[in-house]
Amino acid sequence: TVKKASVALHTERVISEISPLIFGGFAEHMGRCIYEGIYDPASPLADSRGFRPDVMSALKDINYRIMRYPGGNFVSGYRWQDGIGPKENRPRRRALAWRSIETNQFGPDEFMEFAKELGTEPMWAVNLGTGTIQEAADLVEYMNLPTGTHFSDLRAANGHKDPYGVKYWCLGNEMDGPWQIGQMDAATYAEKAVQAAKLMRWVDPSILTIACGSSATSMPSYPDWDRTVLDRSYDQIDYFSMHHYAANPYPSATNMGLEKDTDSYLASNVHFAEHADTLGAAIRVSKVKNRSKKDVFLCWDEWNVWYRARGGDGDWSEAPHILEEEYNLEDALVVATWLNTFLKKADVVKIACIAQIVNVIAPIMTKSDGMFRQTIFYPLALFSNHAAGMSLDALVKAPLQNTKRYGPVQVLDVSASFDPQTGKGASFLVNRSQTEALSVTVSWEDRAPQSLTQAWQMSGGDPQAGNSFEQPDRVTAQDLALPPLDGNSVTLTLPPLSFTTLLSQHA
Ligand code: AHR
Repeated sequence: TVKKASVALHTERVISEISPLIFGGFAEHMGRCIYEGIYDPASPLADSRGFRPDVMSALKDINYRIMRYPGGNFVSGYRWQDGIGPKENRPRRRALAWRSIETNQFGPDEFMEFAKELGTEPMWAVNLGTGTIQEAADLVEYMNLPTGTHFSDLRAANGHKDPYGVKYWCLGNEMDGPWQIGQMDAATYAEKAVQAAKLMRWVDPSILTIACGSSATSMPSYPDWDRTVLDRSYDQIDYFSMHHYAANPYPSATNMGLEKDTDSYLASNVHFAEHADTLGAAIRVSKVKNRSKKDVFLCWDEWNVWYRARGGDGDWSEAPHILEEEYNLEDALVVATWLNTFLKKADVVKIACIAQIVNVIAPIMTKSDGMFRQTIFYPLALFSNHAAGMSLDALVKAPLQNTKRYGPVQVLDVSASFDPQTGKGASFLVNRSQTEALSVTVSWEDRAPQSLTQAWQMSGGDPQAGNSFEQPDRVTAQDLALPPLDGNSVTLTLPPLSFTTLLSQHA
């Protein structure tokens, strides 16, 4: 059966400008993300720097605008000075967070080279676990000061005379988590974050800082941690970090006894939106309490589907195969609805980083002589390359479907953008029904499109279908024949379990 739905767009019914930094990634020293992922000198495909053109090209296709580094849990035990200078002198250490050996062959200067090659803005996390506020400030000096001081001269001696000018700085990572090296309570963390931010800003007043939110909505610290940290650090920070992972079953496959519930899973952006709304409200309250004139925005710097099904414990090797998730069609649809949520919350979410970028819970999987794109690669690339300008407040009429976790939810999930500079429109439509196709009429109330320019669709009856080294293109975004424009509207058929991107050009 085909049910009907409609989407009405008006280019002046705007939620907010879209920050391009919501299309960001996260690269952690973890498993095979850095070693054998973005840095793989032993691969026959690697260039003289250890970068692989195939991996670089896939990363460039996603068009990441910002890249968080070097962790994650890893950063809370990381000594950044281990990772600079001649490679043969760099120490090997146990990285306790992920039970691996850190060779330090890839460090701050290599990361900056990688970010430059990728054309992405670096976002550095400092160690507020075992690290001191002085070490954090020293790293800012190494990265950002012109030569003439100890650490900036050291950078020059390492072959990098010009300062890197790193603007975005995370003040630690998930410091509420019992798994975190140096876990602390909210008040203690807020004090350390404020003192670190002050010192780092005294070194370079142009930097922007990001404080840690609580690490998950399932944590007992949520949302009190967030309120305490925001109240106490508001005037020293520019962004507030949030993390959220989803899975089917929820919260993860390690929780025995839970059964898969695909209808609820496909509606889990109801929960993502609630999380953003709660933290957005906490930010507003802190602004008032602090009588502050400045704004703080959300930095959703870890998000993804994460089953925890494929081993989380390293074996003290240099690049353990941990958390190498294999994604399927339903995961790609959840990722698309997540990106819809970022657009719908564009007024408060200004940075977002998918965790992570290669091999570890990532859209790209490599082996030494090859790689493939996972299902989640496609929505990421489509949003990142086509959502631009203003996020539009779409009026959606669609049938409801009942879900165990979230009650009745519209079967059609939509976001849309319009760029007044170029006249380009983009609509992103997910049909989350497992059984029913939808006939959707999209209309532009004010500026009718001159033409529809391109469309893609991901679909297929099997929510569990995914890609692999053997079948790399089983689930991809396919070109969709453009339907005819009828005045200011167009009608599309969305198969069950599908994600459609539609581009339009407006006068
Ligand atoms: O992305 C994997 C891990 O998830 C990160 O290291 C940590 O911050 C979070 O718990």
